Amino acid sequence: MTAMRLEQAQALLGFVRGAGQEHILRYWEKLPENSRQQLLHQIAAVDFALLARLHHDYILRKNLPALTSLEPAEMITLAQQQAHPEEVRSMKARGEQELRAGKVAALLVAGGQATRLGFEKPKGAYPIGPVSQKTLFQLHAEKLRALARRYQTRIPWYIMTSDTNAGETRDFFEKNNLFGYSSQDLCFFEQEMIPALDENGKLILDAPDHIFTNPNGHGGTLTALEKSGALADMRRRGIEEIFYFQVDNVLLNMCDPLFLGYHVAAQAEMSAKVCAKRDPYEKVGVIGKVFDARTGKAGRLQVIEYSDMSAADKEARLPDGTLKYNAGSIAIHLFKVSFIEREVAGGTKLPWHVAHKQIPYLDANGQLVQPDKPNGYKFETFVFDALSDAERVVLLEVDRRFDFSPIKNAAGEDSPETALRDLNEFYARWLEQAGITIPRDAAGKVKVRCEISPLFALDAEELAPKVTPALRVQNDFYLEP
Ligand code: UD1
Repeated sequence: MTAMRLEQAQALLGFVRGAGQEHILRYWEKLPENSRQQLLHQIAAVDFALLARLHHDYILRKNLPALTSLEPAEMITLAQQQAHPEEVRSMKARGEQELRAGKVAALLVAGGQATRLGFEKPKGAYPIGPVSQKTLFQLHAEKLRALARRYQTRIPWYIMTSDTNAGETRDFFEKNNLFGYSSQDLCFFEQEMIPALDENGKLILDAPDHIFTNPNGHGGTLTALEKSGALADMRRRGIEEIFYFQVDNVLLNMCDPLFLGYHVAAQAEMSAKVCAKRDPYEKVGVIGKVFDARTGKAGRLQVIEYSDMSAADKEARLPDGTLKYNAGSIAIHLFKVSFIEREVAGGTKLPWHVAHKQIPYLDANGQLVQPDKPNGYKFETFVFDALSDAERVVLLEVDRRFDFSPIKNAAGEDSPETALRDLNEFYARWLEQAGITIPRDAAGKVKVRCEISPLFALDAEELAPKVTPALRVQNDFYLEP
């Protein structure tokens, strides 16, 4: 941190007062110089005009987008894929061609805070391998290395962190020798933070020399890619397509060639994987088409978050009994590099989302208080809002058994327990497809723990010739090279 010059510091303090935020200077006189510098640097990064607009539009006017005329979105369904195996084969081959040509990068968003899981470290450090206890980061890294080996290529891996976990995440990678990934192909970059506001639109101090901020949402990925130079780096390397994924999905089908193939063949700018919802109340966003009040046109693609959807819409069913709004977003996307370049030109175009939250603050005595009810507003942008700016979009339906099992909660659905169950089942099926008998109980549940390192086999086809059906699996079972 370089020390700020006096005139610059005074100008900033004047700016704070002009913006009606002078309360953040209430400890100023008592602060030692290094704390003053810290606060000044934070103030210098605050976009006061943006915050004033957010306060006006989202807190005072509650300017939330009204959802009108929600309609299901068209997608390439599983039934269509089953009916056209030739097309599926050729799309997969198309995707493999992109990988072989070195045109694909992987992009992991890991700047979130894992609050619901209640895990102190970055979420990617969660150990989840059913037998190996390998962490989420390691499982992702092994899949990428195995893919690069299979397609005789390099897959640069960009990892977005935030101020809340950047140092810890890098340290974790370093301590683990980057999980065997080449340092030339690994690029960490940070998203920006944004201050929260209290009920009156005021900034919140959580220490005498610190304003409370939160990561600006995964929508911040797009601008952070540009500002960090990662986008330019992709261009230099000849990358054209970016495979985007979240840290918490243990069944992630990394850089899925089939998805890539459909996306590239359609010349889509952004694509998304969807899967049928488990039940009406599953906590996933749903991709649908809405009426766009700004343009007056129907049919704008949007992810409608579970918290924003009415119970009637959640429960609506088609005559055949399936949910009407069934396209659950599993937060796996493909982006064309050229699309992101256009999307970030002149700053983010993404709309803001506001959440009423409990935010720690200093009380009148300077004591830190953890409130028990919401006392302020956090702002975020969401990457999936870019869908409506894309010229062409592919929505590909996938089977959740092969693509989606996230770790969100400490217990219950979408927890380590369900992730372990799903991973175990996933690998047991591969072994069974190779003719191996896996012990199951009367309810069909796999009785042992099985796991296959992606470096041993990336899929059932690669596994089959490497094992013999005579293999006896009686205890926990792990295959690695
Ligand atoms: C998210 C999606 C939801 C989708 C579900 C699938 C949102 C708002 N909703 O829900 O539509 O169905 O995943 O699993 O995203 N992250 C950052 N920076 C941030 C915020 C988040 O990098 O500022 C990252 C997290 O590290 C994580 C991912 O984004 O990898 C998702 O964040 P999370 O808060 O877990 O979203 P969900 O509510 O679970």
